[in-house]
Amino acid sequence: MKFLLTFVGVVHLLSLNSGKTIYKNDISQRTFQEIKEEIASYGDVAKTIINLAVYGKAQNRSYERLALLVDTVGPRPSGSKSLEKAIQIMYQNLQEDGLENVHLEPVKIPHWERGEESAMMLVPRIHKMAILGLGSSIGTPPEGITAEVLVVTSFEELQRRAPEARGKIVVYNQPYVNYSTTVQYRVQGAVEAAKVGALASLIRSVASFSIY
Ligand SMILES: *[C@@H]1O[C@H](CO)[C@@H](O)[C@H](O)[C@H]1NC(C)=O
Ligand SMILES: *[C@@H]1O[C@H](CO)[C@@H](O)[C@H](O)[C@H]1NC(C)=O
Repeated sequence: MKFLLTFVGVVHLLSLNSGKTIYKNDISQRTFQEIKEEIASYGDVAKTIINLAVYGKAQNRSYERLALLVDTVGPRPSGSKSLEKAIQIMYQNLQEDGLENVHLEPVKIPHWERGEESAMMLVPRIHKMAILGLGSSIGTPPEGITAEVLVVTSFEELQRRAPEARGKIVVYNQPYVNYSTTVQYRVQGAVEAAKVGALASLIRSVASFSIY
């Protein structure tokens, strides 16, 4: 018995070291080996799901559903009518697939409503630009904001040129690396621009190419 307890203690430490909490009340007596075996026993189920999605009846289904969402519903900000429509489509899809316990639950969420947005380059020539306000953007005053721009390609460049940014519109012309890296300009761009005293910020689309 003493041996068993010591053994469990060692295994527990290992699980902590690997950064995962595997042990929980009822399974606290199980060894890694047993857990590994249990996970391995689902191999066939996992293979069935993968085969269904990659080669079988569900081939291309995720892609087609995503295409349907982006083509027919479009942007789906929290709390919007279009998100509601997207949820209804997914709800119906999951029911059609015969999944268990498919149900909706009411939630409360703050929401942001799009107003009107426009941007015009005034110098060196007048040019109307196609822009889209990012969800949760703070509106400009009714007369808008007119200012010189400071174009930067990175947050590092913005830091380096911080004294030039005060009172300007910061334009991020960041190269596209990958989504997780480049989306930081969408997430943090306005905040970083505000920190150096800019009046507003614009970013390029977070995409590998633009159809505009
Ligand atoms: C999935 O897409 C590929 C590539 O477009 C196509 O060859 C294949 O027939 C599609 N499969 C199904 C089940 O529609
Ligand atoms: C994205 O690019 C960064 C920087 O090159 C890299 O560290 C990261 O692993 C990449 N992420 C993915 C998901 O490829």
